[in-house]
Amino acid sequence: MDVLGLDIGGSGIKGALVDVTTGSLTTERFRLPTPEEARPDDVAEVVSQVAQHFSYKGVLGAGFPAVVHHGVAYSAANVDKSWIGTDVSALLTTATGCKSYVLNDADAAGLAEMEFGAGRKYKRGVVIMLTIGTGIGSAVFIDGHLFPNTEFGHLEIRGKDAERRASDAARERKKWTWEEWAMRFQEALSTYERLFSPDVFIIGGGASKSFNQYAKYLRIRAEIIPAQLLNQAGLVGAAVYASRSNALIRSARGAKKAE
Ligand code: BGC
Repeated sequence: MDVLGLDIGGSGIKGALVDVTTGSLTTERFRLPTPEEARPDDVAEVVSQVAQHFSYKGVLGAGFPAVVHHGVAYSAANVDKSWIGTDVSALLTTATGCKSYVLNDADAAGLAEMEFGAGRKYKRGVVIMLTIGTGIGSAVFIDGHLFPNTEFGHLEIRGKDAERRASDAARERKKWTWEEWAMRFQEALSTYERLFSPDVFIIGGGASKSFNQYAKYLRIRAEIIPAQLLNQAGLVGAAVYASRSNALIRSARGAKKAE
């Protein structure tokens, strides 16, 4: 079954139809720039243009870079503050006419990696997926089940958010070599390892493609592996999330009718 998956980011809004049984894209990705200041109504308008591009009518899933609890955003680290308290699912449903399911962007990427990518073989134990880009996103899986909205990028390291010290944006801003960046990232990883003792870290986001350049400098006990789905993970995971959430709601309705 093909479902529209969207990845709403600070610079672009990307979409594609995803075969949710295989995790593969059945169309090319379509990307429009995120409007300046990225306010809710403006972003919703661009999301509706992306849905229209595919002449899409089914349910859609979207990854969004904030704490998202039952469709409502509760933080706004790298987006306009007016998102806080916004029912993102309702906003996108109205804008597109498609029932929309929204989750944190790193949780979406993690779902895709666990189902179709680097996390496939880790169905037991604790897996931490980190997306390293403008911020640091996190997705935690316990025996294959997502524990959502963990926001490890905002854990403080020496008095500053981890993502201020060790995101890919920080590396670019400071013009660090991979080795210099790895020293900062190591501090974050050691903190996560001390607190959560995962079996494996999966490194995704923009920094995943350069994994071999910095992995050799990292010293931790857990296994550490690069993500496999690269920049598709977010939209693939969002599509999977939408199809599962919709199926759950339909079966709950069916059960109620049968009572
Ligand atoms: C946000 C997270 C998001 C991460 C990656 C952080 O700044 O707080 O919600 O997952 O960036 O986009």
